[in-house]
Amino acid sequence: MSSDNCKAVKVLSIRQLGKSSPGEEIAELRLEHPGWKSWRAGQFVMIRPLSWPLDLIWGRPFSICKGDGDSLTILFQVVGRGTSRLLELQKGEAVSMWGPLGNFFSKPADRPVLMLAGGMGIAPFCGYVDTHPEPENLKLFFAHRLPLENYPYAEIQKKVETEAFKENKVEDIQLIITKIKALVEEFSKKNGLVVACGPTPFLKTVQAAANEFGCEAELSLENRMACGVGACLGCVTRENDGHHTQVCTTGPVFKADAISLEE
Ligand SMILES: Cc1cc2nc3c(=O)[nH]c(=O)nc-3n(C[C@H](O)[C@H](O)[C@H](O)COP(=O)(O)OP(=O)(O)OC[C@H]3O[C@@H](n4cnc5c(N)ncnc54)[C@H](O)[C@@H]3O)c2cc1C
Ligand code: FES
Repeated sequence: MSSDNCKAVKVLSIRQLGKSSPGEEIAELRLEHPGWKSWRAGQFVMIRPLSWPLDLIWGRPFSICKGDGDSLTILFQVVGRGTSRLLELQKGEAVSMWGPLGNFFSKPADRPVLMLAGGMGIAPFCGYVDTHPEPENLKLFFAHRLPLENYPYAEIQKKVETEAFKENKVEDIQLIITKIKALVEEFSKKNGLVVACGPTPFLKTVQAAANEFGCEAELSLENRMACGVGACLGCVTRENDGHHTQVCTTGPVFKADAISLEE
């Protein structure tokens, strides 16, 4: 990656979405636009605030959620040390940003597209909906654990058909699996494309349904990453032929029938 793709940008705003317990907050971080010519939905950035201490040596990867000429937005959920520190960022602070990284979701013309998002997997679909030439062909199914107002669901709901399901108890997981299978079957009959992003168990469900109904599907993986540019081999996944490949450079979006999500 050229040094042009690594920029120090300023925080324009940071705000928490909805209410959640300490330690699982979700926030929208708007950063100064790094001046790239373009980006595609599904691509991601690595970010590392300049104020981070040396023991937080690596940047953290986040999907590009939205962008305009002036700013780039990411959404993050607090899950650990790095994301708790991100929540403390203040307007005007400087953040190193590498990107846009990785590949992106397809946007086929004249075909229905089913977006399947689990939790923070909703982030890339904000940009997908905003940049799709035929939003009337899109449908989002969103499975989530925190209240709906913690996510940018209402924003997407204004633009495309949506349906959400809140997981309140373990038994709800089976209902989500049944719903995903039914939707994938429906879209396979319409020659649709499925695009999915979420935790690995969620992606495994989508992959199994896509295989069962012979539906074309693309999965965005969220493996742990350190360098984000193919150098550390920290993010590998297994392709069906047994080879390992870096998610940061070959992905994060993979054809569902090209990879194995088993450990
Ligand atoms: C391509 C890509 C896009 C992503 N997009 C988003 C996004 O839009 N919004 C968002 O909130 N998160 C996203 N993530 C996940 C995000 O990068 C991690 O949550 C973050 O790096 C955790 O940093 P931390 O220092 O807070 O956690 P750590 O202190 O490093 O770890 C805390 C806990 O989080 C788990 N964890 C760490 N990294 C990941 C990961 N990649 N996936 C799942 N669990 C992880 C650890 O196993 C551990 O249990 C994305 C990841 C990738 C690879
Ligand atoms: S994160 Fe280093 S190789 Fe992918």
